[in-house]
Amino acid sequence: MNNLSKLGRFNRRVFCAACIFVLSLSKKQSAHELKTIKANWCWLGALTSSGVTIKAKLNIEPNEEKNYIQVIYSTTPNLSSPKRFKANSLDKQIATFNLNNLQEDTQYYCVITVDGRRYPEKGTLKFKTVKVNQPYNFAIGCSSCAGGTVSGFLNNGVSNSSIFDIIREYNTPPLTLFIHMGDLHYKDIKVQDFQDKDINRYRKAYDDVLSQDSQRKLYQNIPIAYIWDDHDYSSNNSDGNYPGKWSASAAYREQVPHYPLVEAVDKIKGTGGIYQSFVIGRVRFIMTDNRFHRDSVDKEDNPEKTLLGKTQKEWFFQELLEGNNNQGLIVWVNSVPWIAGNNPETETTEAWDRYAIEREEIANFLQKNHIAQKLIMISGDAHMLALDDGSNNIYASEGVASFPVIQAASLDSIGSIKGGDYSEKPIKGRKQWGVLHFTDDGQKIEVKVELKKKNETKIEAIFTF
Ligand SMILES: [Fe+2]
Repeated sequence: MNNLSKLGRFNRRVFCAACIFVLSLSKKQSAHELKTIKANWCWLGALTSSGVTIKAKLNIEPNEEKNYIQVIYSTTPNLSSPKRFKANSLDKQIATFNLNNLQEDTQYYCVITVDGRRYPEKGTLKFKTVKVNQPYNFAIGCSSCAGGTVSGFLNNGVSNSSIFDIIREYNTPPLTLFIHMGDLHYKDIKVQDFQDKDINRYRKAYDDVLSQDSQRKLYQNIPIAYIWDDHDYSSNNSDGNYPGKWSASAAYREQVPHYPLVEAVDKIKGTGGIYQSFVIGRVRFIMTDNRFHRDSVDKEDNPEKTLLGKTQKEWFFQELLEGNNNQGLIVWVNSVPWIAGNNPETETTEAWDRYAIEREEIANFLQKNHIAQKLIMISGDAHMLALDDGSNNIYASEGVASFPVIQAASLDSIGSIKGGDYSEKPIKGRKQWGVLHFTDDGQKIEVKVELKKKNETKIEAIFTF
């Protein structure tokens, strides 16, 4: 054996010893980390004039009492004169805080503390409460569809696009709320049952979305109002026949900060839809669930065929009447294209033309109750910007009942054009979204619509109600 090979053997021994040392160190570190409870992510939602809901995901299931997990909040960014609020509930590593008794129309800053550890480590979460049922000027952002920039088998179905930073940084004026109209991810989960292991697939998907820096920062700085569509509920074109829908539904309730839901998750009763509504200023937002109760698109159209489901439709009609009686404007958040069936080139299997009899029933209800003139619709699904001033939206058999329709997508998915025609020609693509500015003088509400690619406005319109 020459000196060189002796040296090699010596080096190998030193290397192996070093490896054992590093491995034992990392074992000790991970054991230590397991004992350290902390928040991994959080997001804000259910914004009102007096409160907000925060859902925070912890790295482990805590044994501690709820008061070890708190929100510290203040009206200043440096959290001066702070107040403390302990978690309302702790379940499945999710701490839920329903902050209440806040001042209306007030900017708040907050951090979560878990066993003394602050989240986020730098900066704060923030939100601004609103005014309700009184004139109020505000702006919301909206869009849908964030499958990610890598296509094919490498695509993990989530996005970390810079569009989320652009939306967060928008400041003319800062957005009160971001309405996500579905396809939060493209995990296309298909489970067959309603067991913890099935719900876990959905929990993991929320983890994946909220581990994307740009998305998480958006939802930590602007409260979300989120309704699912097909790819985050299950897979492409999925409907009410999907056997795993109760798992999707349970996970949504557990993981997502949301406004009060009408239905409880009950497999025997067949309930679990996520439709919800809320009011900001004198505007009622109605978000329908277009998946949970939906009949198969392939079913032949007939008066019983439904996209909304009987119970949701009754609720929807009641919401429309309440909006008409109590507010100055209604925004229907409807995830899939409403204007469809007129143009064979842009035909889609997803849209309302496959439920044309129900669409006509809704249009007739709007006409009969004089609601169409107080209504505007925002939609996603089609990965495009488009706008119709109402001229292509005439579906009532007893009158006109037309209203403006806005298509605002996609955040980060391959461009597509669906439905139409639209009075403003569609623009397909990614990094696209909408801003709605509401200006209310107490008599009339003006809605300025800006449909954008990144920061550039591509389509603009003003409607007065
Ligand atoms: Fe989509």
